[in-house]
Amino acid sequence: MMSSLKKNAPNSTILCGNLDGLPIPGFETHKVFTINNKKVLITAIIDPDLEKKAIHGLQIKDPLSTLKKILETPHDLAVAVLHFSDTKARRLIRRISGLDVAILGTQRGTMKESELINGCWLVKNNNHGKTIGYLDWDFTAKAPTNAKIVKVKKELYKADQKIANLVSDHELWLRQHYVEVEKSKERTVTDLTAKVPYVSIHTCTTCHPKISASWKNTGHARAYASLQKKCKDFCPDCLPCHVTGSREHDKQGFRSPSATPDLFNIQCEECHGPAEEHIKEPELPYGLKIEASTCTICHTANTDPEFSFEDDLNLVSH
Ligand code: HEC
Ligand code: HEC
Ligand code: HEC
Ligand code: HEC
Repeated sequence: MMSSLKKNAPNSTILCGNLDGLPIPGFETHKVFTINNKKVLITAIIDPDLEKKAIHGLQIKDPLSTLKKILETPHDLAVAVLHFSDTKARRLIRRISGLDVAILGTQRGTMKESELINGCWLVKNNNHGKTIGYLDWDFTAKAPTNAKIVKVKKELYKADQKIANLVSDHELWLRQHYVEVEKSKERTVTDLTAKVPYVSIHTCTTCHPKISASWKNTGHARAYASLQKKCKDFCPDCLPCHVTGSREHDKQGFRSPSATPDLFNIQCEECHGPAEEHIKEPELPYGLKIEASTCTICHTANTDPEFSFEDDLNLVSH
């Protein structure tokens, strides 16, 4: 992916502090920008464990010692993008001195407040481009005077067509990649479907036709179509919240687009639970323990900041 980026955007520089084998044209370990007479040092560090599979043929060097070396470059402000898990990023920051700001790159989500660890401000703002981190920096106090997350309002920014084309080409390429991965798994499809305790909405409809009809008018019935529109209908990052039975609490439902095509969308069993037993004995109690946490596994602070259990339940109730 990095080399394809380089090919398409030849004038850009990719920063990677602990990539072995540099210099490679177009890649640099760090950069120093002079802004208002202040030297701002920027680098990016990758966790070697995290990227073992992703970076073919490239070696990643020890993060701590390489970062220490880079910080010897004269600067007034040092910023590092860390491609680490949350825990490991914190561990690295505790062991290093002289880093002013660390931006957590891989972890999805947004931190409301930046956090001070060992003299370094840790921020996380990975929200699919929906927000931008904003920082006013006091060079004397070595601390932010104003730090906030700004919502990106589409109306305010005109898309750079060249970049937009690059992104959409990349999305198409990525979708094709996931489709290929999917195809290579096809041999196991039958044994996968056999184990699923979800019976799908088709079965519910036979006994609860009115409720099924009302469900079809909710956004939950369009969740998969929304992914298709964005070219993300095979993307493992997106699927769990747009299908049935695939969230962390219960991975027994949706497996993949070809293995479980009956489990697209947020169907009945996402809220009520697998109905394998219910359809055998409908008179027994089933599936009415629905509380805020049933919803907030998907309607999170990031995906739906305005979510309110009481109000939103009215919109999908039957
Ligand atoms: C498995 C993930 C998931 C769960 C669990 C979930 N939702 Fe949703 N919900 C979604 C997605 C995804 C959408 C957006 C669908 C779209 O438009 O693509 C959505 C949309 C909605 C909407 C807008 C619906 C409309 O008709 O416009 C409401 C309201 C809503 N959900 C309420 C709830 C409530 C209340 C719960 C819990 C009882 C809940 N959701 C549980 C994923 C989920
Ligand atoms: C943590 C759960 C979660 C994940 C992961 C997730 N979504 Fe959603 N998505 C939601 C919820 C909840 C809604 C409904 C939000 C609302 O009603 O405001 C939604 C709504 C949408 C919508 C319809 C509303 C809109 O904003 O246009 C689209 C399109 C969408 N998601 C695309 C994606 C894509 C693409 C990905 C992967 C990059 C993704 N989603 C990953 C939970 C999720
Ligand atoms: C977004 C979550 C959600 C989805 C999706 C959902 N339900 Fe429900 N359902 C609820 C809630 C909440 C209640 C009310 C529970 C209570 O009374 O405590 C309920 C109640 C029910 C009841 C019992 C009350 C009644 O009206 O008879 C049935 C039956 C039912 N749902 C069937 C279905 C079927 C069938 C589907 C799919 C077509 C479905 N539900 C989809 C949340 C959901
Ligand atoms: C064979 C017919 C049949 C099928 C199929 C069926 N149900 Fe039911 N369901 C019933 C009957 C009958 C009741 C009412 C039982 C009672 O109140 O005595 C019921 C009740 C329920 C209740 C309320 C349970 C309670 O504790 O009061 C929920 C929720 C529900 N069904 C959801 C579903 C969902 C979701 C599906 C599909 C996954 C489904 N049902 C499929 C016949 C069926």
